[in-house]
Amino acid sequence: MTEIAEPKKLLRTVLGEVQKRPPIWIMRQAGRYLPEYLEVRSKANGFLNLCYTPELAAKVTLQPLQRFNLDAAILFSDILVVPDALGQKVAFEQGEGPVLAALDVKELPAMAEKNVLPHLAPVLETVARVREALEPEKTLIGFCGAPWTVATYMIGQRGSPDQAAARLFALREPDAFSALMDILVEASVDYLVAQFEAGVDVVQIFESWALNLDEAAFQDRVIGPNKRIVDGVRARVPNAPIIGFPRGAAGMTARYVEETGVNMVGLDYSMPVGFADKFLAPNIGVQGNLDPLRVVAGGSQMIESAEGIISAFAKRPHVFNLGHGIVPQTPIEHVEQLVNFVTES
Ligand code: CP3
Repeated sequence: MTEIAEPKKLLRTVLGEVQKRPPIWIMRQAGRYLPEYLEVRSKANGFLNLCYTPELAAKVTLQPLQRFNLDAAILFSDILVVPDALGQKVAFEQGEGPVLAALDVKELPAMAEKNVLPHLAPVLETVARVREALEPEKTLIGFCGAPWTVATYMIGQRGSPDQAAARLFALREPDAFSALMDILVEASVDYLVAQFEAGVDVVQIFESWALNLDEAAFQDRVIGPNKRIVDGVRARVPNAPIIGFPRGAAGMTARYVEETGVNMVGLDYSMPVGFADKFLAPNIGVQGNLDPLRVVAGGSQMIESAEGIISAFAKRPHVFNLGHGIVPQTPIEHVEQLVNFVTES
């Protein structure tokens, strides 16, 4: 059955509309599982340079929509362009992930004075280019990393399984830590407002390391700063649509939603789907939450899992997504099958 294209179905869902069939985008939808992405990246002189080259970044942003019937494009960039813009050097080593220069706490006052927007101008130009090229019924998603998640990389200098360096820093040097969080809150508000001004419809705050925190730490490092970003953005962009993704928030998810004021919450794949109806207010939307490895394996288990998620969230605003980023070894045919199933096209 062909349906008449609905205007910005994904945006309207974030704002609270319940759909017959959920809109869909895929976390990390532009990436290494696509040969056309690898080709552009190979010409870009490194990943970060790709993020800072509007022509190539816009091209890569649009690639997944040329292949699949997705409802949204997500700006191609990275959460670590913010520390880079604050003056802490970031490098992406092939096969190693991000590596950052050591954080010098004596530099924090200078960082606090820094305006990140000039450095991020190419990313904002990417937004404007994508907006121009995107079909009007598609939603454009902007994003930033949440302060705690970005701080774990700034303090630990790289990804780690338990974020121990940042967790210890926060406890041993509370003043420096709090100064760093203030810097990141302010930079993130400026950056997200600039993304809205450049043409995004919705933003997502990636709190990818919301796990491994006790209750008080979650309150101080996740809920507090996320709320300050939501309030700061909405003071300048009234009613700005915001998705929060506190990965691993588990039993703190409902409190995160109530206290931050996000429109929609991204659920990771370990979250039982029955949770939402029990603990979230009926107007709160959910995004998620298929295990990315189910798409690697494909077949009936993938479709059954997707179906279970869709029916569990049928009565509330729901944006279909994976519960974390798509992985490089994912077969393209499985993505195609999943998107067609979700959209019934
Ligand atoms: O979703 C999209 O398609 C938009 C682009 C996007 C990227 N990173 C591109 C990227 C987004 C939204 C991000 C967010 C991001 N970056 C997060 C939060 C989401 C999450 O996955 O939890 C985090 C923690 C980062 C930091 C980061 N960037 C890491 C840890 C890595 C290395 C791990 C990996 O997946 O390779 C990156 C690199 C990165 N960011 C790639 C892409 C496409 C791979 C770089 C390459 O091409 O080699």
